[in-house]
Amino acid sequence: MTLQLRVYVPPHPLIKHWLAVARDAATPSVLFRSAMTELGRWLTYEAAREWLPTQETTVQSPLAACPATLINAEVPMAVVPILRAGLGLLEGAQTLLPLASIYHLGLVRDETTLEPSSYLNKLPDKFHPETRVLITDPMLATGGSIMRAMEELTQRGVDPSLTRIVCVVAAPPALQKLSAAYPGLIIYTATIDEQVNDRGFIVPGLGDAGDRTFGT
Ligand code: PRP
Repeated sequence: MTLQLRVYVPPHPLIKHWLAVARDAATPSVLFRSAMTELGRWLTYEAAREWLPTQETTVQSPLAACPATLINAEVPMAVVPILRAGLGLLEGAQTLLPLASIYHLGLVRDETTLEPSSYLNKLPDKFHPETRVLITDPMLATGGSIMRAMEELTQRGVDPSLTRIVCVVAAPPALQKLSAAYPGLIIYTATIDEQVNDRGFIVPGLGDAGDRTFGT
């Protein structure tokens, strides 16, 4: 079987609603943060569907024993927010994945060259090969930042097929780069926008997600 990058855009009214709120230039920072939290929650919910490890067991109800399924807490789970903007999605993701370790990765693009540089890296030296990793970053634009993040993760033993990316707006340049390098990867996004302008902004996109999240 040939592996292919899969990009899911869940057709959910709550995801559409919060995307509209986030896109609206009139949305103030406090509400933009709420939109990011909600999008983080619902996109993580969708991503968790076939990614969270489970185990079959039996539980005793008040009336009888019955088969049951539990989250397998022995399989390591990690969330990697790409700072700063990825922090906006983290809170919603974390409510669904309370047992996951959070490893912060700070990346910022040079405004002229659009090359990302790393200013904070809290990743462990080595991940357990079974680790389920969820990356949060609302924007996949030129793809420089997500490619850098994937490089940092895979060189520490992360399996791309056990990795999910939760983002809000994905653009073709980033998807093409990811598809060429990591064909087994799966992405959950609220939308795919067609264009990235010459300043590296997705159009229509939602502007600078980091600045809008933190009111800077
Ligand atoms: C933005 C965004 C992504 C990145 C996407 O971050 O949050 O991380 O750009 O662009 P790319 O696909 O072209 O690399 P930015 O560098 O503005 O930092 P911030 O999150 O601190 O605002």
